[in-house]
Amino acid sequence: MLRPLCLFGYAASVAAQFGIEHTQYGTSPPVYPSPQISGTGGWGAALEKAQAFLAELTTEEKAQIVTGTAGPCVGNIGPISRLNFTGLCLQDGPLAIRQAIYVSVFSAGLSTAASWDRPLARQRGAYMGAEFKGKGAHVALGPVVGPLGRSPFGGRNWEGFSPDSYLSGVLVEESVMGIQSVGVQACTKHYILNEQETQRNPSVDSNGTQIEAVSSNVDDKTMHETYLWPFANAVRAGTASVMCSYNRINGSYGCQNSKTMNGLLKDELGFQGYVMSDWLATHTGVAAIEAGLDMDMPGGIGFTTPTPTYFGANITTAVNNGTLSMDRVDDMVLRVMTPYFHLNQDADYPPIDGYTQRLGFFGPGPYPFNYTIGNIVDVRQAQHAQLIRDLGAAGTVLLKNSNGTLPLKAPKNIGVFGNDAADFTRGEYSLALSGAGLADGNYDIGTLAVGGGSGTGRFPYVVSPLEAIKARGRSYGADVQYITDNQFITAGGLAALAPTPEVCIVFLKSWASEGADRTTLIAEWNSTAVVNMTAALCNNTIVVLHGAAPNTMPWRNNPNVTAILAAHMPGQESGNSIADILWGDVDPSGRLPYTVANGESDYSKNLVNSTALATTTDPNAWQSDFVEGNLIDYKEFDARNASVAFEFGFGLSYTTFNISNLQIQVSSSNASRTPNPAAPIQPGGNVELWATLATVSVNVSNTGTVSGATVPQLYLSYPKEANAPVRSLRGFEKVALSPGTSGTLNFPLTRRDLSYWDTTAQQWTLPTGGIKVYAGFSSRNLPLQGTLNV
Ligand SMILES: *[C@@H]1O[C@H](CO)[C@@H](O)[C@H](O)[C@H]1NC(C)=O
Ligand SMILES: *[C@@H]1O[C@H](CO)[C@@H](O)[C@H](O)[C@H]1NC(C)=O
Ligand SMILES: *[C@@H]1O[C@H](CO)[C@@H](O)[C@H](O)[C@H]1NC(C)=O
Ligand SMILES: *[C@@H]1O[C@H](CO)[C@@H](O)[C@H](O)[C@H]1NC(C)=O
Ligand SMILES: *[C@@H]1O[C@H](CO)[C@@H](O)[C@H](O)[C@H]1NC(C)=O
Ligand SMILES: *[C@@H]1O[C@H](CO)[C@@H](O)[C@H](O)[C@H]1NC(C)=O
Ligand SMILES: *[C@@H]1O[C@H](CO)[C@@H](O)[C@H](O)[C@H]1NC(C)=O
Ligand SMILES: *[C@@H]1O[C@H](CO)[C@@H](O)[C@H](O)[C@H]1NC(C)=O
Ligand SMILES: *[C@@H]1O[C@H](CO)[C@@H](O)[C@H](O)[C@H]1NC(C)=O
Ligand SMILES: *[C@@H]1O[C@H](CO)[C@@H](O)[C@H](O)[C@H]1NC(C)=O
Ligand SMILES: *[C@@H]1O[C@H](CO)[C@@H](O)[C@H](O)[C@H]1NC(C)=O
Ligand SMILES: *[C@@H]1O[C@H](CO)[C@@H](O)[C@H](O)[C@H]1NC(C)=O
Repeated sequence: MLRPLCLFGYAASVAAQFGIEHTQYGTSPPVYPSPQISGTGGWGAALEKAQAFLAELTTEEKAQIVTGTAGPCVGNIGPISRLNFTGLCLQDGPLAIRQAIYVSVFSAGLSTAASWDRPLARQRGAYMGAEFKGKGAHVALGPVVGPLGRSPFGGRNWEGFSPDSYLSGVLVEESVMGIQSVGVQACTKHYILNEQETQRNPSVDSNGTQIEAVSSNVDDKTMHETYLWPFANAVRAGTASVMCSYNRINGSYGCQNSKTMNGLLKDELGFQGYVMSDWLATHTGVAAIEAGLDMDMPGGIGFTTPTPTYFGANITTAVNNGTLSMDRVDDMVLRVMTPYFHLNQDADYPPIDGYTQRLGFFGPGPYPFNYTIGNIVDVRQAQHAQLIRDLGAAGTVLLKNSNGTLPLKAPKNIGVFGNDAADFTRGEYSLALSGAGLADGNYDIGTLAVGGGSGTGRFPYVVSPLEAIKARGRSYGADVQYITDNQFITAGGLAALAPTPEVCIVFLKSWASEGADRTTLIAEWNSTAVVNMTAALCNNTIVVLHGAAPNTMPWRNNPNVTAILAAHMPGQESGNSIADILWGDVDPSGRLPYTVANGESDYSKNLVNSTALATTTDPNAWQSDFVEGNLIDYKEFDARNASVAFEFGFGLSYTTFNISNLQIQVSSSNASRTPNPAAPIQPGGNVELWATLATVSVNVSNTGTVSGATVPQLYLSYPKEANAPVRSLRGFEKVALSPGTSGTLNFPLTRRDLSYWDTTAQQWTLPTGGIKVYAGFSSRNLPLQGTLNV
């Protein structure tokens, strides 16, 4: 009882400190005018090309460049053939080009996060980018760092990486660089505080009154230290675009909030690209434009006659009647066109794939503009499938392995159980959530290899767990008995097995999709009973979880459950990825990018919802106060010193590792407490924030008998002045070692890594006094300690 009260006390004190009483948020501070693009950060030459292009445009054409229209893609900017501009094709999503055939379905952001593997994250971005480009898509609508994962129930958390802002920051940076390395624009989304699906958009009550979208109310310190942090990495990586979100922030809609767009993104972070709206997230015209919105999506989407848009012809009218300056419109155009020229998209870009429009919601046309449509092309490559298989395995976390169960030693009689083991039973696009209810991806029998909604993919095939295990078994003459109908299992179906398998592998799934939040953190479809009943029969039961995370595991201490694998969302090679781990071809090197609590009620739900809200008549009723500040996921469990089932950063290997010899090198002692305000602002913010001020190194050795990989992690504990969490991740590196070998790892620490956000100074500030340094293998296994004075 004491601990929750403790947390409540903390929340109350944060609330007092920042005056968080949602009625007091009311407004977001006005920040005007909208900062203009300067071309800094290496975009100067492209800006000049964009300026030359702009000089040729009429006002109507300028409006056209910043307003979506009906076309073959999910988002379309119409062409201007006079200028050889073929328009822009924008396509979902963060793990595949969704609206296409002959494409790969990659591992989700969640699996990428669980891999803690920078090179794999970069490679994934580059391979996905290559597929978008091959299909003629100029803009990939991803990666995702909003939601960050404030609530473990968040329906879209899996599209992004981790509730830890540092881990998400590193991985979004790698992803943006990967996608853009092949000449495709990344659109980092959803900006910002888009932390719940419930009431993400306005609704209408029974009397026709508009009930506004949920307002995420957050203080300035939490904004910088937790939610804005990974967006800063994305901007630093050169993201061409940022998508503003559906929710309100301090009462003001995400796509018309001048503080977040003009203030934080364009001014403080020096963002040079364009802000596009999420689909139908624009609620005003001139006001949104002045607040920093550069592109309306999907815009005026009628086919032959455009439907209304706050942009389009309204921009022309507003310029002509003097309410909107031509300067601002010109800046919008320059922000859209500069990344296009910077990534050489004006030179021989592939045409839009010939199948694209058949799958889109605009239908086959005709459209208001003619687009360049090419042949139907296959953009898959053998190395893409291999990467997906590797990343699926690398993003699998081994949580329990008693009795030396894993890796398997050629068992001759294998049992496979659970509805997630089975092949798809509703086809390759069945995970997409259809409004018609025909294709609700949360159906019973069929494996869950990624999540649903706009972030899903159209599978070319899926390797189901059962298919891969049968193939393995056949290769050495093993029998596989399987039952994939959970209801049949819970009704007693296991009684039919003969003989009892040497090993029973149970596959469970946890559904999540855009448009709804999770209602439980326990895998669906009677999973607890399925595990209980299997374990009652089989004293060597391995449980594998696919789908959304975190999940609680009521059966985790059952002695007959000898191994547990959190296998996340591996993508099309799902079965091969898990077989590689089960048979030990690949050492499990995944680590938890979130906390697994003992039980569901141990989490702070951090989700606003109720029956009363569902029927409210108060337009302003949906308020979500982020009173917990930075204390989400492990930072919250650490703050109340609560026991957990498996902590953030945890994961087992088939070998053992030792960590030793922590060394701290300060490159610049007595550095000024804040960055020089006169230093240039480049994409990512004041350049001094990214200077390395210290480097920590450790030695890691493989002390076991097989080759493997591990992820040494570095956490910092700041002095009281910083008002920071107990510990914060500030370094990690995956390292592969053969038995008996060791290596030295360096963790460079930038000024931002070592600072806290001082709300009075409005600056990242180095604390005075020593910063405690911890290194080890998880957030709670930190054998090495030191103190850093900078
Ligand atoms: C939201 O309101 C809080 C409290 O007044 C303030 O600290 C913060 O800067 C505001 N943020 C935005 C984006 O409006
Ligand atoms: C458009 O392309 C054609 C053919 O390559 C070229 O002759 C012409 O100069 C280009 N026009 C512009 C405005 O770039
Ligand atoms: C301009 O915006 C208004 C809403 O403010 C809308 O009713 C109107 O249809 C828009 N005009 C065009 C041409 O889209
Ligand atoms: C100017 O045009 C805009 C866009 O149509 C409109 O919203 C606004 O009311 C107009 N203002 C005046 C003064 O006519
Ligand atoms: C599109 O192409 C068709 C056929 O060539 C032509 O009739 C039509 O005018 C074109 N539409 C536009 C908007 O250019
Ligand atoms: C596995 O280990 C647990 C605890 O160490 C033990 O209780 C159980 O009997 C073992 N099971 C088998 C099949 O050896
Ligand atoms: C759970 O099992 C019960 C009893 O076997 C069955 O009636 C129910 O439909 C099952 N629920 C799900 C979600 O499978
Ligand atoms: C599963 O087993 C646990 C522990 O034996 C028990 O508490 C729980 O009620 C069982 N749940 C189901 C659904 O069978
Ligand atoms: C473990 O398995 C054995 C059969 O090997 C069974 O007798 C026992 O009841 C099982 N225990 C649990 C907790 O399911
Ligand atoms: C586990 O089950 C096997 C056969 O099902 C049996 O031979 C063995 O004794 C059991 N071990 C334990 C510890 O229950
Ligand atoms: C939100 O509340 C409604 C109404 O009480 C309920 O139907 C829905 O399941 C809830 N959503 C979540 C994610 O808890
Ligand atoms: C709708 O309006 C009626 C009459 O004014 C009122 O009694 C009722 O409470 C309203 N209901 C809602 C949902 O706003």
